[in-house]
Amino acid sequence: MLQINDIVTTYGAIEALRGVTLEANDGEITCLLGPNGAGKTTLMMTIAGVLHPREGSIRFNDESITNSSSSDIVKKGIALVPENRLVFPEMNVRDNLIAGAYSRLSKDKAVVHEDIDALYHRFPRLKEREKQLAGTLSGGEQQMLAVARALMSKPSLLLMDEPSLGLAPLVVEEVFQIIRELHQDGTSILLVEQNAHMALQVANRFCLLDQGQVTFSGKPGQLAENELIQRAYLGGKQAS
Ligand SMILES: Nc1ncnc2c1ncn2[C@@H]1O[C@H](COP(=O)(O)OP(=O)(O)OP(=O)(O)O)[C@@H](O)[C@H]1O
Ligand SMILES: [Mg+2]
Repeated sequence: MLQINDIVTTYGAIEALRGVTLEANDGEITCLLGPNGAGKTTLMMTIAGVLHPREGSIRFNDESITNSSSSDIVKKGIALVPENRLVFPEMNVRDNLIAGAYSRLSKDKAVVHEDIDALYHRFPRLKEREKQLAGTLSGGEQQMLAVARALMSKPSLLLMDEPSLGLAPLVVEEVFQIIRELHQDGTSILLVEQNAHMALQVANRFCLLDQGQVTFSGKPGQLAENELIQRAYLGGKQAS
């Protein structure tokens, strides 16, 4: 479904991705693990078209999206739930959801409102807080809103950048429950997670990124969890 081939993404002179190759398969949860600064967010933003790679190619459903704009990529079926759950703080919950559907708002406005009602079934707390400004929601509620907003574009591939970051354990459970449900409903997911233990419970495949390069990719169970966690967070170096 998604083929990333040897991409290099830079910030000025800094090479944040130094030849990344990986695949995400249709219907699967692919989990991306790696230490701080490994390039995980840069990779997500490059796939979403927020950043453009200097070299390499990205294909989605056998079509090149390497130089597509972020709005075209949303139209093709990829949505990003950004790191730090960037909701629009000065807009209420409902307007944040409407904003998530901007790629199809002009065509089917009525359907957009039906879709919001459908999402409220999955996220009842968002319905309760429909008129509340997003910036005043709790961290967990903002994460739910960030996921719900991304779903408004009806993605077939959802990119989730550290959705559990900074959330209490019970809320983390809720986030992972939503990830499982979306997967069961047929959405493919590329998930960046610091919580490797939780991530590996849902992942069909995982990939380690370190210093802008993929250092391992395989299926859960191919590496012992303690070795994997060590490599994911210490970048392959042995703890002293
Ligand atoms: N806007 C920017 N300008 C310059 N360098 C940047 C910028 N954004 C990221 N970088 C650098 O690119 C590298 C990769 O950063 P990135 O945010 O992709 O890492 P990450 O794996 O998502 O880390 P974390 O786990 O902390 O979120 C880092 O060295 C970072 O300092
Ligand atoms: Mg990041």
